[in-house]
Amino acid sequence: MKTNILVVDDERDFAKMLSERLELKGLSTAVVFDGFKALSWLNENSCEIVLLDLGLPGMNGIDVLPRIKEAHPFVQVVILTAASDVNIAIAGMKLGATDYLIKPVTFDILLGAIHDAQARRIGQEESLRMIETSKMAAFGVLAEGVAHEITNPVNVMLAAAGWVEDLLGDNIVLPAEDRAEMFSALAKIRDQGMRCKDIVAKLLAFGGRIDPTPKSVQVNDFLVSMIKKKGEWAEQLRVDIQGEFAADLPMIFIPPSLFAVALENIIDNSLDAMEGKGGVLRVTTSLEDNFCNLAFSDTGRGIAKADLGRIFEPFFSTKEVGKGTGLGLSICYRMVKGMGGEIWVESKEGEGTTLSVRLPLPPAN
Ligand SMILES: Nc1ncnc2c1ncn2[C@@H]1O[C@H](COP(=O)(O)OP(=O)(O)O)[C@@H](O)[C@H]1O
Ligand SMILES: [Mg+2]
Repeated sequence: MKTNILVVDDERDFAKMLSERLELKGLSTAVVFDGFKALSWLNENSCEIVLLDLGLPGMNGIDVLPRIKEAHPFVQVVILTAASDVNIAIAGMKLGATDYLIKPVTFDILLGAIHDAQARRIGQEESLRMIETSKMAAFGVLAEGVAHEITNPVNVMLAAAGWVEDLLGDNIVLPAEDRAEMFSALAKIRDQGMRCKDIVAKLLAFGGRIDPTPKSVQVNDFLVSMIKKKGEWAEQLRVDIQGEFAADLPMIFIPPSLFAVALENIIDNSLDAMEGKGGVLRVTTSLEDNFCNLAFSDTGRGIAKADLGRIFEPFFSTKEVGKGTGLGLSICYRMVKGMGGEIWVESKEGEGTTLSVRLPLPPAN
């Protein structure tokens, strides 16, 4: 369960009693007795509110406070202090504390301060989310514009390439090497055209312009058809795609076009990573509690340690310009998180990468 409140106080009996009373009010708590412990606890756990005593052994509360706020800006710090330290508590407000209370404090006043701090935290998170949303909305408009601009010429390009290819194939007598060059030029037109189409699909998905209506989807079927679609390319790369699917998977509820963009990108990433060396891509599905797990394991070049934390960022790509948009995994991330799932990656440079996705199943009727 998520911890609501971390109590930091060196008066052990007081701290424990306070935590017990808060628990009785339905709040989950953790207790530490000094500032260093508070910082290390927060590095490994999370909470909404820290009730911080000022007179702590080792690192003083007033020194702990800015460190908490710097590392965990949304954590609300409520200072609990003795009357003699009121001036320090006021200084604490300047350092980002939400409130201060003077001991002894009645339990009701403390609860009131906790509720205010919770509300303030929600407010801060909401305003951040609003900024994010408006950025996304702006991006959506941009994406739509780009999509509109690029779709028509791309379609013309694709059609023209096919037409010229037909013409050359049947009628015109050209020296063999010219013909070969022409064909390779045409292949380039087609590849680049496809690439543009792909970029457009990703921009649309990223801008949220893909039909977001969730539908019942059979994950295994979806994967099988995606793998089939990639068959020819995989063969060229000498990649063996192996599927191992759980037989008893229930349907999941997901926007199908978005799911398709996400899965295609994950598989494309694996294939890209095996370009030049070939290898194996294992795609597995399994059922675990109320989740459907998908895993994509490749024997590709892997991801550098320094990049591991960045691959889900929009526009992060290690691929050459024109080859990577850096949008694929950020689309996956948003889709998966949006439906309450998880997505994570494990990778060893030079050995391979496993991308795992955990999607919640709809509640059984
Ligand atoms: N299976 C994989 N093997 C190696 N690197 C990967 C793999 N999947 C993703 N990556 C890395 O993550 C980056 C971001 O992926 P993505 O968001 O799909 O953007 P793009 O594929 O357009 O570069 C890639 O550029 C690549 O460096
Ligand atoms: Mg990609």
